[in-house]
Amino acid sequence: MLVLPACSADTDESGTVREASAQSQQAHEETGHDAAAEDEEHGEEEAELAIYMSRVQRWTHKTALAVDAENGELSEFYLHELEETLETIQMEAPVYEGYEVGKLTNEILVPEVEALDSYVDEGDWSGAREQLTTLSNACNQCHAATDHGFIRIQLEDLDRPFAQSFAPEVQ
Ligand code: HEC
Repeated sequence: MLVLPACSADTDESGTVREASAQSQQAHEETGHDAAAEDEEHGEEEAELAIYMSRVQRWTHKTALAVDAENGELSEFYLHELEETLETIQMEAPVYEGYEVGKLTNEILVPEVEALDSYVDEGDWSGAREQLTTLSNACNQCHAATDHGFIRIQLEDLDRPFAQSFAPEVQ
């Protein structure tokens, strides 16, 4: 199934609807009708993975920019955020369209993120740059394995779309 940008809009909308029904549910607790739980059962898992992935992309891109600027403190910060989002995926969306996304993330991606973390810890910037390519290959390997090979991550040519400096802080 192709995931079009419209999906995120739907999710936001249903997110709002869910919130509203959760509130009305609170007001009418005695009715026992769990509208929020019903919504949960209808495809929410799939919509959320794309949203988690957009976060994964954001943290990966910012990690790459920080590594490019050889800023250890900032690289560590974004790597930590990335690791947290990957943990969230494993907990909140372990299965997507029959694919073991949690397990695949743990097997394919987590070791590469940890390896990048080690290079950054050691201040080995050329190692870290090489590892970024390995990392993006891992992203793409899993996209291919989950029938989303058309989503191709590449970190070699980094634009700077964020209104933020990635240079190390001047002490
Ligand atoms: C477990 C396998 C897996 C791994 C590992 C994985 N992805 Fe994904 N990714 C997916 C699947 C499946 C989708 C489609 C989600 C959907 O249809 O809701 C996706 C969707 C995406 C999207 C589309 C959403 C958007 O905002 O454009 C991006 C970007 C993305 N992934 C980035 C990454 C990056 C960057 C990495 C590596 C750091 C990565 N992914 C690692 C499985 C994976």
